[in-house]
Amino acid sequence: MKTIPEFTRAQREHHAIVLVAAYDALMARLIAESAADAILVGDSVAMVVHGFPSTVHATVDMMCTHVAAVRRGAPEIVVVADLPFLSVRRGVHAATDAAGALMQAGATAVKLEGVAGHEDVVAHLVGSGIPVMGHLGLLPQSVHQLGGYRVQGKAAPEAARLEREAEKLEELGAFAIVLECVPAALATAITRQRTIPTIGIGAGAGTAGQVLVLSDLLGMDARFQPRFVRRYIQGDALVRDALNRFANDVRTADFPAPAEVLA
Ligand code: KIV
Repeated sequence: MKTIPEFTRAQREHHAIVLVAAYDALMARLIAESAADAILVGDSVAMVVHGFPSTVHATVDMMCTHVAAVRRGAPEIVVVADLPFLSVRRGVHAATDAAGALMQAGATAVKLEGVAGHEDVVAHLVGSGIPVMGHLGLLPQSVHQLGGYRVQGKAAPEAARLEREAEKLEELGAFAIVLECVPAALATAITRQRTIPTIGIGAGAGTAGQVLVLSDLLGMDARFQPRFVRRYIQGDALVRDALNRFANDVRTADFPAPAEVLA
């Protein structure tokens, strides 16, 4: 996809939206050359690339660096950028500055977690011409308050709150909503209630699209294997094997071969 209105069209035409979280130019180019629809520069970059224990460590500068890299690798595809920890909680002015920086770095849209307490920010960004993707359910930026990465919306009152929040996001003009780690029945219900697409991660098969982190679907980290991730290749084993073969070839003087030597 090259434009945000294509998200709405995709939902209307029952084309399942495929979003992939990635953070660098090389992977962005590969995604743009694939059948995936759009790239999310998620604040998960803080964990996956920078090795921090949670997304709380992502900053606007960090996000801008990765958005710019992704945009250089994939000049045309829709790029959604996460507004990082607290950037939407310091008031409309600060949130607008953060969103502006992400857009000027190359994002097509921004994503923000939750809605209660920052409805004004969502309305102001949308009113300023910045497409906003919502994110409900498990909110990784609130991991310390939640006490861990747990399924959200199991109890009826919490499920009802999530339904109301999805309605609010649509009312405020969000163009899509990520539903993370919620029961499949709830995600399906929210999807049916809304006219904007939902994009699930750990939310079952009833959403309008799915998002996975690229390194998860490539199986790059055996320590992180939640049930909702499908590993399409065992990337960690493939990389280790290539490195071991390289080391072996060097030590047995097999590499470089004459054809690999510059004249
Ligand atoms: O940061 C991220 O990668 C995300 C996805 C998991 C939805 O927000």
